[in-house]
Amino acid sequence: MAGFSYKDGVLCAEEVALSELAERHGTPAFVYSRASIEANWRAYATALAGRKALICYAVKANSNIAALNLLARLGSGFDIVSGGELERVLAAAGEPGKIVFSGVGKRRDELRQALRAGIKCFNIESETELSRLDAIAREEGAVAPVSARVNPDIDPDTHPYIATGLRENKFGIEFERALEVCRRADSLEGLRLAGIGCHIGSQVASVEPYAAALKKLLALAVELEAAGVSIEHIDLGGGLGISYQGEPAPAVEALAAVAKLAPERYEIILEPGRSIIGNAGVLLTQVECLKTNQGKHFAVVDAAMNDLLRPALYQAWHEIAPVVQGGAAPERLYDVVGPVCESGDFLGLQRRLALREGDVLAVFCAGAYGFSMSSNYNSRPRAVELMVDGGHDYTIRARESTAQLMAGEALLPEQPPAPGAG
Ligand code: LLP
Repeated sequence: MAGFSYKDGVLCAEEVALSELAERHGTPAFVYSRASIEANWRAYATALAGRKALICYAVKANSNIAALNLLARLGSGFDIVSGGELERVLAAAGEPGKIVFSGVGKRRDELRQALRAGIKCFNIESETELSRLDAIAREEGAVAPVSARVNPDIDPDTHPYIATGLRENKFGIEFERALEVCRRADSLEGLRLAGIGCHIGSQVASVEPYAAALKKLLALAVELEAAGVSIEHIDLGGGLGISYQGEPAPAVEALAAVAKLAPERYEIILEPGRSIIGNAGVLLTQVECLKTNQGKHFAVVDAAMNDLLRPALYQAWHEIAPVVQGGAAPERLYDVVGPVCESGDFLGLQRRLALREGDVLAVFCAGAYGFSMSSNYNSRPRAVELMVDGGHDYTIRARESTAQLMAGEALLPEQPPAPGAG
């Protein structure tokens, strides 16, 4: 993993030893490498150089404002799916004019908030949304730029929970109706059709499905032009897979080569999340206890499904390795499990590891959909987030306290209020 390597037997993020970070900040802790995030983003920028293109980082992958701000400084755009993500991007000095707003269920207040912020484009997913945004834009005396997110019915060959471009998924406008919907968007007073796009899924392992999706989008673009409707951009969404287990991952350059098949007059928009930040982060966790039940070995660690949900939810595989190599403990096959009261609470199953209680482990590729999907289940405060930059480390989110978890909760009064007291 770029940004993370062993030096003298100790795993480091750039120049900082992770053992030292675990000691200073405690565990569980997410640690990100600035250099790695920036290199991943630049790979997209370089691969698309010479083309009018906008890389809109998918905020949902990791929405810490420090990460967003680093990307904003590089000139990144952002793909958001809520008013909350919009506020984060603005707090991180992201440019409103480089924000696209995706999502199948945008609320009226979120549409209005984004319109007032002056975002680049609304990725529209239904006719209801089209009418809703048109009405809001007219009320606001504005014209909203929209892109029709179509459902191209392409199989991205990924986990069913993260395939999004299949006919039966909830996402996008049916391909058969796309032309009509685009024409309608074009005719409404409050809207301006700026583009068309799709997002076929996540952790996509090859670029062929993108080529198939682009072919469909280009066919739609031709039909639109024939109908006298012009568009400015084509958005191919995000989803490029990364290597979790040493398997080959598709190159950013290969995706860019596909995107560049779109005629030059169209601006290309991509919405990568995982491939920008996935391999730029690890989750540090300490072994609380080693136990054997019926001959099966368990390493109970202090991180759990609430910190990293991917193994429990998608049976996702994350590499787990000791931060300090060369322990003298016997090697065993361990289920690495958390303290949460669910048998589905595991970070990795049947891993060959030499462990002692107190050892610190790194769970790799935890930068994307790690912290952003974390919860407070079992009243577990969320982990600290640290960003390493060369030889320096910065706390970019303090560990939560239990008091923070209870803030906003309230007890009922001892007695119900007297009648008439409101
Ligand atoms: N654009 C749209 C409209 C999306 O829905 C997504 C992800 C992306 C871009 C970014 O996709 P990426 O490049 O990160 O694959 N929690 C799951 C992944 C869910 C992805 C949802 N949409 C996981 O941990 O694998």
